[in-house]
Amino acid sequence: MELVQDTVRQPLVYVKGVPLIKCFADTLGPLQSFQARPDDLLISTYPKSGTTWVSEILDMIYQGGDLEKCRRDPILIRVPFLEFSMPGYPTGMEVLRSTPAPRLLKTHLPLALLPQSLLDQKVKVVYVARNAKDVAVSYYHFYRMAKVHPDPGTWDSFLEKFMAGEVSYGSWYQHVREWWELSRTHPVLYLFYEDIQENPKREIQKILKFVGRSLSEETVDQIVKHTSFKEMKKNPMVNYTTMSADVMDCSVSEFMRKGITGDWKTMFTVAQNERFDPHYAEKMAGCDLNFSLEL
Ligand code: A3P
Repeated sequence: MELVQDTVRQPLVYVKGVPLIKCFADTLGPLQSFQARPDDLLISTYPKSGTTWVSEILDMIYQGGDLEKCRRDPILIRVPFLEFSMPGYPTGMEVLRSTPAPRLLKTHLPLALLPQSLLDQKVKVVYVARNAKDVAVSYYHFYRMAKVHPDPGTWDSFLEKFMAGEVSYGSWYQHVREWWELSRTHPVLYLFYEDIQENPKREIQKILKFVGRSLSEETVDQIVKHTSFKEMKKNPMVNYTTMSADVMDCSVSEFMRKGITGDWKTMFTVAQNERFDPHYAEKMAGCDLNFSLEL
Protein backbone atom coordinates (compact mmCIF):
# COMPACT_ATOMS: atom_id res chain seq x y z
CA MET A 1 0.00 0.00 0.00
CA GLU A 2 1.32 3.41 -0.92
CA LEU A 3 1.75 5.87 1.94
CA VAL A 4 1.52 9.65 1.82
CA GLN A 5 5.19 9.75 2.80
CA ASP A 6 6.02 7.89 -0.43
CA THR A 7 4.59 10.76 -2.46
CA VAL A 8 6.67 13.50 -0.83
CA ARG A 9 8.96 15.48 -3.16
CA GLN A 10 8.98 12.80 -5.88
CA PRO A 11 10.20 13.72 -9.38
CA LEU A 12 7.58 14.44 -12.02
CA VAL A 13 6.67 11.67 -14.47
CA TYR A 14 6.29 12.40 -18.19
CA VAL A 15 3.13 11.16 -19.94
CA LYS A 16 2.92 11.94 -23.69
CA GLY A 17 5.54 14.61 -23.05
CA VAL A 18 3.56 16.21 -20.19
CA PRO A 19 5.21 16.30 -16.74
CA LEU A 20 2.86 15.23 -13.94
CA ILE A 21 2.87 14.36 -10.25
CA LYS A 22 3.44 10.60 -10.16
CA CYS A 23 0.21 9.62 -8.36
CA PHE A 24 -1.81 11.69 -10.84
CA ALA A 25 0.06 10.17 -13.80
CA ASP A 26 -0.87 6.71 -12.50
CA THR A 27 -4.60 7.48 -12.84
CA LEU A 28 -4.45 8.35 -16.53
CA GLY A 29 -4.74 4.77 -17.78
CA PRO A 30 -7.98 4.00 -15.88
CA LEU A 31 -9.26 7.53 -16.58
CA GLN A 32 -9.35 6.89 -20.33
CA SER A 33 -12.37 4.62 -19.78
CA PHE A 34 -14.24 7.49 -18.05
CA GLN A 35 -17.73 7.90 -19.50
CA ALA A 36 -18.86 11.51 -19.65
CA ARG A 37 -22.54 12.44 -19.59
CA PRO A 38 -23.88 15.17 -21.87
CA ASP A 39 -25.12 17.05 -18.78
CA ASP A 40 -21.67 17.08 -17.13
CA LEU A 41 -19.96 20.44 -16.74
CA LEU A 42 -16.16 20.44 -16.84
CA ILE A 43 -14.11 23.09 -15.05
CA SER A 44 -10.76 23.22 -16.78
CA THR A 45 -7.78 25.33 -15.78
CA TYR A 46 -4.03 25.41 -15.68
CA PRO A 47 -3.17 25.10 -11.95
CA LYS A 48 -3.40 28.24 -9.80
CA SER A 49 -5.74 30.06 -12.14
CA GLY A 50 -8.85 30.26 -9.94
CA THR A 51 -10.10 26.66 -10.16
CA THR A 52 -11.36 26.52 -6.58
CA TRP A 53 -13.00 29.91 -6.93
CA VAL A 54 -15.01 29.04 -10.04
CA SER A 55 -15.77 25.57 -8.60
CA GLU A 56 -17.39 27.18 -5.55
CA ILE A 57 -19.27 29.64 -7.78
CA LEU A 58 -20.59 26.77 -9.90
CA ASP A 59 -21.56 24.61 -6.93
CA MET A 60 -23.44 27.57 -5.49
CA ILE A 61 -25.23 28.02 -8.82
CA TYR A 62 -26.09 24.31 -8.97
CA GLN A 63 -27.38 24.42 -5.36
CA GLY A 64 -29.56 27.45 -6.13
CA GLY A 65 -27.47 29.64 -3.82
CA ASP A 66 -28.10 27.43 -0.77
CA LEU A 67 -25.13 28.04 1.54
CA GLU A 68 -25.80 25.05 3.75
CA LYS A 69 -25.81 22.66 0.80
CA CYS A 70 -22.44 24.07 -0.28
CA ARG A 71 -21.06 23.21 3.15
CA ARG A 72 -21.95 19.51 2.67
CA ASP A 73 -18.40 18.44 1.75
CA PRO A 74 -14.94 19.77 0.88
CA ILE A 75 -14.68 21.03 -2.69
CA LEU A 76 -12.64 17.97 -3.72
CA ILE A 77 -15.73 15.84 -3.08
CA ARG A 78 -18.38 18.27 -4.38
CA VAL A 79 -16.46 18.79 -7.64
CA PRO A 80 -14.61 15.54 -8.44
CA PHE A 81 -11.05 16.19 -9.63
CA LEU A 82 -10.74 13.66 -12.46
CA GLU A 83 -7.03 12.80 -12.25
CA PHE A 84 -6.73 13.17 -8.47
CA SER A 85 -5.09 10.39 -6.50
CA MET A 86 -3.41 10.55 -3.10
CA PRO A 87 -2.88 7.83 -0.50
CA GLY A 88 -5.52 8.14 2.21
CA TYR A 89 -8.04 9.97 0.00
CA PRO A 90 -10.63 8.70 -2.49
CA THR A 91 -9.45 9.13 -6.07
CA GLY A 92 -11.36 11.42 -8.42
CA MET A 93 -12.79 8.32 -10.15
CA GLU A 94 -13.98 6.93 -6.79
CA VAL A 95 -15.63 10.21 -5.83
CA LEU A 96 -17.41 10.21 -9.19
CA ARG A 97 -19.17 6.94 -8.39
CA SER A 98 -21.26 8.65 -5.74
CA THR A 99 -21.68 12.00 -7.49
CA PRO A 100 -25.25 12.59 -8.62
CA ALA A 101 -25.98 14.11 -12.03
CA PRO A 102 -25.78 16.82 -13.15
CA ARG A 103 -22.10 16.64 -12.25
CA LEU A 104 -19.45 19.32 -11.94
CA LEU A 105 -16.01 17.96 -12.84
CA LYS A 106 -12.55 19.46 -12.50
CA THR A 107 -9.36 18.87 -14.45
CA HIS A 108 -6.03 20.54 -15.15
CA LEU A 109 -5.17 18.12 -17.97
CA PRO A 110 -3.95 19.44 -21.30
CA LEU A 111 -5.98 18.24 -24.29
CA ALA A 112 -3.52 15.46 -25.15
CA LEU A 113 -4.40 13.71 -21.89
CA LEU A 114 -8.10 14.54 -21.62
CA PRO A 115 -10.50 11.54 -21.63
CA GLN A 116 -11.95 11.46 -25.16
CA SER A 117 -15.50 10.92 -23.90
CA LEU A 118 -15.65 14.55 -22.66
CA LEU A 119 -15.08 15.76 -26.21
CA ASP A 120 -17.33 13.13 -27.82
CA GLN A 121 -20.21 14.01 -25.49
CA LYS A 122 -19.70 17.73 -26.21
CA VAL A 123 -19.52 18.37 -22.47
CA LYS A 124 -19.70 22.08 -21.69
CA VAL A 125 -16.45 23.50 -20.34
CA VAL A 126 -15.86 26.52 -18.14
CA TYR A 127 -12.18 27.36 -18.68
CA VAL A 128 -10.47 29.90 -16.42
CA ALA A 129 -7.17 31.48 -17.44
CA ARG A 130 -4.97 33.75 -15.30
CA ASN A 131 -1.99 35.83 -16.34
CA ALA A 132 1.24 33.83 -16.50
CA LYS A 133 3.22 35.96 -14.05
CA ASP A 134 0.72 35.63 -11.20
CA VAL A 135 0.28 31.93 -11.99
CA ALA A 136 4.04 31.38 -11.76
CA VAL A 137 4.20 33.11 -8.37
CA SER A 138 1.14 31.31 -7.02
CA TYR A 139 2.46 27.98 -8.33
CA TYR A 140 5.83 28.53 -6.63
CA HIS A 141 4.15 28.98 -3.26
CA PHE A 142 1.88 26.01 -3.97
CA TYR A 143 4.91 23.81 -4.72
CA ARG A 144 6.34 24.87 -1.37
CA MET A 145 3.24 23.83 0.60
CA ALA A 146 1.98 20.85 -1.44
CA LYS A 147 4.78 18.34 -0.99
CA VAL A 148 3.60 15.96 -3.70
CA HIS A 149 5.47 18.32 -6.01
CA PRO A 150 9.23 18.18 -6.38
CA ASP A 151 11.11 20.73 -4.30
CA PRO A 152 10.61 24.08 -6.06
CA GLY A 153 14.19 25.21 -5.37
CA THR A 154 14.76 28.96 -5.48
CA TRP A 155 12.17 31.28 -6.99
CA ASP A 156 14.61 32.02 -9.80
CA SER A 157 15.08 28.36 -10.69
CA PHE A 158 11.35 27.69 -10.38
CA LEU A 159 10.58 30.54 -12.78
CA GLU A 160 12.99 29.03 -15.30
CA LYS A 161 11.21 25.67 -14.98
CA PHE A 162 7.82 27.35 -15.37
CA MET A 163 8.94 29.11 -18.55
CA ALA A 164 10.32 25.84 -19.92
CA GLY A 165 7.07 23.98 -19.13
CA GLU A 166 8.93 21.70 -16.73
CA VAL A 167 6.38 21.96 -13.92
CA SER A 168 3.40 19.73 -13.21
CA TYR A 169 0.91 19.85 -16.13
CA GLY A 170 3.56 21.28 -18.43
CA SER A 171 3.47 24.50 -20.38
CA TRP A 172 1.12 27.30 -19.28
CA TYR A 173 1.46 28.78 -22.78
CA GLN A 174 0.31 25.63 -24.53
CA HIS A 175 -2.53 25.07 -22.05
CA VAL A 176 -4.14 28.51 -22.37
CA ARG A 177 -3.67 28.47 -26.15
CA GLU A 178 -5.04 25.03 -26.91
CA TRP A 179 -8.19 25.45 -24.80
CA TRP A 180 -8.71 28.84 -26.48
CA GLU A 181 -8.43 27.12 -29.85
CA LEU A 182 -10.86 24.44 -28.70
CA SER A 183 -13.45 27.10 -27.89
CA ARG A 184 -13.89 27.60 -31.66
CA THR A 185 -15.30 24.10 -32.11
CA HIS A 186 -16.47 23.00 -28.65
CA PRO A 187 -18.78 24.63 -26.08
CA VAL A 188 -16.16 26.37 -23.94
CA LEU A 189 -16.85 29.46 -21.83
CA TYR A 190 -13.38 31.00 -21.64
CA LEU A 191 -13.07 33.22 -18.55
CA PHE A 192 -10.24 35.22 -17.02
CA TYR A 193 -9.36 35.30 -13.31
CA GLU A 194 -8.73 39.04 -13.58
CA ASP A 195 -12.23 39.65 -15.03
CA ILE A 196 -13.87 37.71 -12.20
CA GLN A 197 -11.93 39.81 -9.74
CA GLU A 198 -12.84 43.04 -11.51
CA ASN A 199 -16.56 42.30 -11.75
CA PRO A 200 -17.65 38.99 -10.20
CA LYS A 201 -21.35 39.66 -10.75
CA ARG A 202 -20.90 40.17 -14.48
CA GLU A 203 -18.85 36.98 -14.81
CA ILE A 204 -21.34 34.96 -12.72
CA GLN A 205 -24.10 36.18 -15.06
CA LYS A 206 -22.04 34.89 -18.01
CA ILE A 207 -21.71 31.50 -16.31
CA LEU A 208 -25.45 31.38 -15.60
CA LYS A 209 -26.25 32.05 -19.23
CA PHE A 210 -23.75 29.44 -20.40
CA VAL A 211 -25.14 26.71 -18.12
CA GLY A 212 -28.72 27.71 -18.96
CA ARG A 213 -29.86 28.64 -15.47
CA SER A 214 -31.30 31.74 -13.90
CA LEU A 215 -31.20 32.96 -10.32
CA SER A 216 -32.65 36.02 -8.63
CA GLU A 217 -30.45 39.08 -8.37
CA GLU A 218 -30.44 38.64 -4.62
CA THR A 219 -29.08 35.09 -4.95
CA VAL A 220 -26.39 36.22 -7.38
CA ASP A 221 -25.35 38.90 -4.87
CA GLN A 222 -25.18 36.23 -2.21
CA ILE A 223 -22.94 34.09 -4.43
CA VAL A 224 -20.66 37.09 -5.01
CA LYS A 225 -20.39 37.59 -1.26
CA HIS A 226 -19.91 33.93 -0.36
CA THR A 227 -17.20 33.45 -3.02
CA SER A 228 -15.20 36.57 -2.15
CA PHE A 229 -11.59 35.87 -1.22
CA LYS A 230 -12.25 36.95 2.37
CA GLU A 231 -15.08 34.43 2.78
CA MET A 232 -13.33 31.60 0.95
CA LYS A 233 -10.15 32.05 2.95
CA LYS A 234 -11.99 31.22 6.19
CA ASN A 235 -14.19 28.49 4.72
CA PRO A 236 -12.74 25.02 5.51
CA MET A 237 -14.84 23.50 2.69
CA VAL A 238 -12.69 25.36 0.13
CA ASN A 239 -9.45 26.44 1.82
CA TYR A 240 -7.92 22.93 1.94
CA THR A 241 -7.24 23.10 5.68
CA THR A 242 -9.13 19.79 5.97
CA MET A 243 -6.28 18.01 4.16
CA SER A 244 -3.41 16.48 6.07
CA ALA A 245 -0.34 18.71 6.44
CA ASP A 246 1.63 15.86 4.80
CA VAL A 247 -0.25 16.66 1.59
CA MET A 248 -0.79 20.41 1.89
CA ASP A 249 1.05 22.24 4.64
CA CYS A 250 -0.86 25.47 5.18
CA SER A 251 1.71 26.55 7.79
CA VAL A 252 4.24 26.89 4.94
CA SER A 253 1.88 28.86 2.68
CA GLU A 254 -1.90 29.03 2.83
CA PHE A 255 -3.87 27.69 -0.14
CA MET A 256 -5.92 30.91 -0.06
CA ARG A 257 -2.72 32.93 -0.14
CA LYS A 258 -3.30 36.49 -1.44
CA GLY A 259 -5.98 36.27 -4.11
CA ILE A 260 -4.90 39.37 -5.98
CA THR A 261 -3.80 40.40 -9.45
CA GLY A 262 -0.30 41.85 -9.75
CA ASP A 263 1.36 40.01 -6.86
CA TRP A 264 4.06 39.08 -9.39
CA LYS A 265 5.49 42.58 -8.90
CA THR A 266 6.59 41.61 -5.39
CA MET A 267 8.50 38.56 -6.70
CA PHE A 268 9.86 39.30 -10.18
CA THR A 269 13.19 41.09 -10.17
CA VAL A 270 13.85 43.56 -12.99
CA ALA A 271 16.20 40.99 -14.55
CA GLN A 272 13.58 38.21 -14.34
CA ASN A 273 10.98 40.48 -15.90
CA GLU A 274 13.33 41.43 -18.72
CA ARG A 275 13.97 37.77 -19.43
CA PHE A 276 10.32 36.77 -19.09
CA ASP A 277 8.70 39.35 -21.38
CA PRO A 278 10.45 38.50 -24.68
CA HIS A 279 10.11 34.77 -23.96
CA TYR A 280 6.38 35.32 -23.36
CA ALA A 281 6.04 37.29 -26.60
CA GLU A 282 7.70 34.46 -28.49
CA LYS A 283 5.55 31.72 -26.93
CA MET A 284 2.31 33.66 -27.44
CA ALA A 285 3.08 34.90 -30.97
CA GLY A 286 0.07 34.69 -33.29
CA CYS A 287 -2.36 34.23 -30.41
CA ASP A 288 -5.06 36.82 -29.75
CA LEU A 289 -5.35 36.10 -26.01
CA ASN A 290 -4.80 39.19 -23.86
CA PHE A 291 -4.21 39.11 -20.12
CA SER A 292 -4.42 41.86 -17.52
CA LEU A 293 -1.29 42.05 -15.38
CA GLU A 294 -2.78 44.51 -12.92
CA LEU A 295 -6.20 45.85 -12.02
P1 A3P B 1 -2.71 33.13 -4.96
O1 A3P B 1 -1.73 32.04 -4.63
O2 A3P B 1 -2.16 34.12 -5.92
O3 A3P B 1 -3.29 33.77 -3.74
P2 A3P B 1 -6.47 27.27 -7.90
O4 A3P B 1 -7.74 27.12 -7.17
O5 A3P B 1 -6.59 27.17 -9.39
O6 A3P B 1 -5.38 26.40 -7.32
O7 A3P B 1 -5.98 28.79 -7.69
C1 A3P B 1 -5.52 29.24 -6.44
C2 A3P B 1 -5.32 30.73 -6.53
O8 A3P B 1 -6.62 31.37 -6.62
C3 A3P B 1 -4.64 31.30 -5.27
O9 A3P B 1 -3.93 32.45 -5.72
C4 A3P B 1 -5.87 31.66 -4.44
O10 A3P B 1 -5.60 32.58 -3.41
C5 A3P B 1 -6.77 32.26 -5.53
N1 A3P B 1 -8.17 32.32 -5.13
C6 A3P B 1 -8.94 31.35 -4.63
N2 A3P B 1 -10.18 31.80 -4.33
C7 A3P B 1 -10.19 33.10 -4.66
C8 A3P B 1 -11.17 34.14 -4.58
N3 A3P B 1 -12.38 33.91 -4.09
N4 A3P B 1 -10.83 35.38 -5.03
C9 A3P B 1 -9.62 35.62 -5.52
N5 A3P B 1 -8.62 34.69 -5.62
C10 A3P B 1 -8.92 33.44 -5.19
